[in-house]
Amino acid sequence: MELKGKNVVIAITGSIAAYKIPLLVRLLKKEGADVQVVMTPVARDFVTPLTLSTLSGRPVISQPFDALTGQWSNHVELGRWAHLMLFAPLSAASMGKMANAIADNFLTTLYIAAKCPVYFAPAMDLDMYKHPANQKNIETLQSYGNTLIQPQEGELASGLCGAGRMEEPEVIFDILKETLKKKT
Ligand SMILES: Cc1cc2nc3c(=O)[nH]c(=O)nc-3n(C[C@H](O)[C@H](O)[C@H](O)COP(=O)(O)O)c2cc1C
Repeated sequence: MELKGKNVVIAITGSIAAYKIPLLVRLLKKEGADVQVVMTPVARDFVTPLTLSTLSGRPVISQPFDALTGQWSNHVELGRWAHLMLFAPLSAASMGKMANAIADNFLTTLYIAAKCPVYFAPAMDLDMYKHPANQKNIETLQSYGNTLIQPQEGELASGLCGAGRMEEPEVIFDILKETLKKKT
């Protein structure tokens, strides 16, 4: 239970690599971390909120507010609660929004409310990953002090092979664990 007392936000966007995130949530919880999962509306088509809320023990947040009840989720409070935020898998679309402070959903709004170290693990097809717009956005996020978890080379969902595959959840877990252990 080396991560007891550590608050972690896992923010998921619409990429096929989202199916790997439940394992990461499980690993963090097993080590004692408190995990809040945030998803874009598109991400909910790739992995179910039910799986993630069950594993994390907290309701998943996707929308800034519930239109029926008027109940809203406080991104500023969550930004202050988190000791670390991970954006994984990070789609090209959300990365572009984050690089430009386009806060048009809960996930991107939370990003600009972060007060903690931010890690991001892009996932996309090799040609998307190579596109100058994405490379520029990666550099922009790094210039904000965010840490890139480099995508790996390998087989991609498109059937092509190359760089763009999200790092494996076990490796991401080790990176986050080391960072969280260093922070008091
Ligand atoms: C099957 C499928 C897989 C996708 N995988 C990726 C991906 O790995 N990376 C990416 O940037 N976009 C991917 N997309 C496109 C995104 O889902 C799309 O750009 C979406 O608008 C992203 O929204 P979000 O960032 O708000 O979640 C995929 C789309 C489909 C249909």
